[in-house]
Amino acid sequence: MNRRKNKLSKVKRAGQPDWDTMYREGTPPWETGCAAGELVRVLNESKLPRGTLLEIGCGTGADAVCLARTGFEVTAVDSSPTALDRARTRAELAGASIRFVLDDVFKFARTCGAFDVVYDAGFYHFIRRIDLDKFLDLLWRVTRPGSYYFTLAGAAGEEAEDGPPQVSDEEIRLELGRLFECVHLRPFRFESPRRLEGYLGWSCLMRRPIPPCGMFRSNLEQ
Ligand SMILES: C[S@@+](CC[C@H](N)C(=O)[O-])C[C@H]1O[C@@H](n2cnc3c(N)ncnc32)[C@H](O)[C@@H]1O
Repeated sequence: MNRRKNKLSKVKRAGQPDWDTMYREGTPPWETGCAAGELVRVLNESKLPRGTLLEIGCGTGADAVCLARTGFEVTAVDSSPTALDRARTRAELAGASIRFVLDDVFKFARTCGAFDVVYDAGFYHFIRRIDLDKFLDLLWRVTRPGSYYFTLAGAAGEEAEDGPPQVSDEEIRLELGRLFECVHLRPFRFESPRRLEGYLGWSCLMRRPIPPCGMFRSNLEQ
């Protein structure tokens, strides 16, 4: 009983996993070593305009490398030193130029300014359960009207042991709809080394609305 308690406390801190321990102790369930297939699909569909891109919780950097090679100017943030070391090595080997930042993304977001695109694979789906308002505030700070937010999140609808946290399409529309309009929300499967068929996920591409031209003037005239 005590031994089990110790094991759990090692990987859980303040309601969320001890990320660095998970990286140090082996291969976490989300870690495939390759860019997410759904990210590659969205890039091939040319739905994301090339420009500056912030990746939140980049892990060991496979997606960041793919994005940099596709022409984005990538800033990739993660709070795990082990993951970021591996990401730097991956980028170096791939010859990809990426600005890596070892930091708590909430701290980083206070001063980093806005990006054309903000991306995360597996960040929104856990942080929404811890502090959704704080995350929405972060997304507001790091975007501007016209910016895109793209997230890959675990989807409700299948029983899957050790799968990602799950969120329903209604919850996504309600929560992210507070800031963004939906470009697409479609199911896909997360690849995982732990499960051949992967895990059900949502591919969610959002865009921050651009206020109509006359809006500011008519506000001033009131
Ligand atoms: C589920 S993993 C996903 C990693 C990567 N996106 C992938 O798909 O392989 C979540 C990542 O977020 C990072 N993370 C968690 N909280 C963070 C925070 N407050 N600031 C920066 N990174 C954080 C973790 O270290 C971890 O690498």
